[in-house]
Amino acid sequence: MTTAADAGAADARHSGITVAEPPAVTLSAAPDRGEAAAHAEALFVEAFGYAPDGVWSAPGRVNIIGEHVDYQDGLCLPMAISHRCFAAAARTPTDRLRLRSAQDDLILDLDARELEPGAVEGWPAYVAGVLWALRPHISGASTQGMDIMIDGQVPLGAGLSSSAALECSAAEAIDALLSLGTEPLQRVQAAITAETDFAGASTGGLDQSASVLSRAGHALFLDCRDFSTRPVPWDLASQGLALLITDTRAEHSHVDGEYTARRADSERAAELLGVDTLRDADVAQLQELLAGIDDEVVRRRARHVLTEIQRVKDVDALLASGTVREHVTELGALLDASHDSLRDDYEVTVAQLDVAVDAARAAGAHGARMTGGGFGGSTIALVEAEQAQPVAAAIASAFVEHGFSAPEFFLALPSEGAGQDR
Ligand code: GLA
Repeated sequence: MTTAADAGAADARHSGITVAEPPAVTLSAAPDRGEAAAHAEALFVEAFGYAPDGVWSAPGRVNIIGEHVDYQDGLCLPMAISHRCFAAAARTPTDRLRLRSAQDDLILDLDARELEPGAVEGWPAYVAGVLWALRPHISGASTQGMDIMIDGQVPLGAGLSSSAALECSAAEAIDALLSLGTEPLQRVQAAITAETDFAGASTGGLDQSASVLSRAGHALFLDCRDFSTRPVPWDLASQGLALLITDTRAEHSHVDGEYTARRADSERAAELLGVDTLRDADVAQLQELLAGIDDEVVRRRARHVLTEIQRVKDVDALLASGTVREHVTELGALLDASHDSLRDDYEVTVAQLDVAVDAARAAGAHGARMTGGGFGGSTIALVEAEQAQPVAAAIASAFVEHGFSAPEFFLALPSEGAGQDR
């Protein structure tokens, strides 16, 4: 297959100009869901020597807009991606929780009744933590033993919520194995509790909501005040559009500390404005509100959160009055504005994120922004479908010029939230 990068290199050779060979780019697709689920089942049989009761899975996510607002009761618009985490699992007549993973040699084998925060480390904490968080739904008499084989297909460290996919696939499996009959929102809550209270990582709930509640072909309008949601049509493929994900491969450093610091800044802003959360501030009075905050840094943090919530409202209004195609220019401008605000006011971008966004815009993307928590991770670019490859090539070239490690590219297809596969 001839890629745009090949064609560009051939043109340059014919014109006699010597240019650095543009890097070849591949837009990776997620493994086929049915095949991946069958593979997880086979891995379970290999590890435990008998067939599982079922296979459950949950997807990673990208956030289209509404970044760093979930912990201020804000509005977000994420979508599930096609990369998923699979959990093949069986109930056992014991109280042992036995965990294995296709990605790691570590084996966890402990008494499920003795689970407590701090008792488990690494990725198993995100599974054991869900069982611990679901305890209020478990009747006292029943045993809690189970065997679980995890096969995580969401790229790790890419800011695409591989941990939420892990927690939410575990929540589906545990709910079914122990016949808990929980509501989807209760599983979202258990996954959040597992991450914050058991694994000790901070999260605002965006990722877990997207992983459990998303619908195929749709984005998810999420109101973090009460975690209410509704699907919003986001079928780009049928409109000749695509959402290009660039995993910058930038090392995440100081993420936890910086994330906590941003949350603290936004809490301080709410306090100074005399509101419980920044969602309660009246954005129509933006200038007056900001003028009331003396601390220059806190003022910029507040400006990001307040304007970002407004941008989500603007995107939602556009999508209520027409298709993505009909509003593609305005939507692209809102994505751009979101990135600029995260870069300048919230200061959560790194050079790789800014370069990827700038290169995508220069190569003709309608809009581009970082997605997720920042400090590394991924960007998204709203592009014409036939431009996905050339835009990716332009980002790859810009990374070569800057001496960054090669990025990885995926297409974000709006996928179905967590559920049972087999
Ligand atoms: C991380 C957190 C989310 C959210 C985003 C930023 O992904 O886990 O809860 O705060 O950062 O929007």
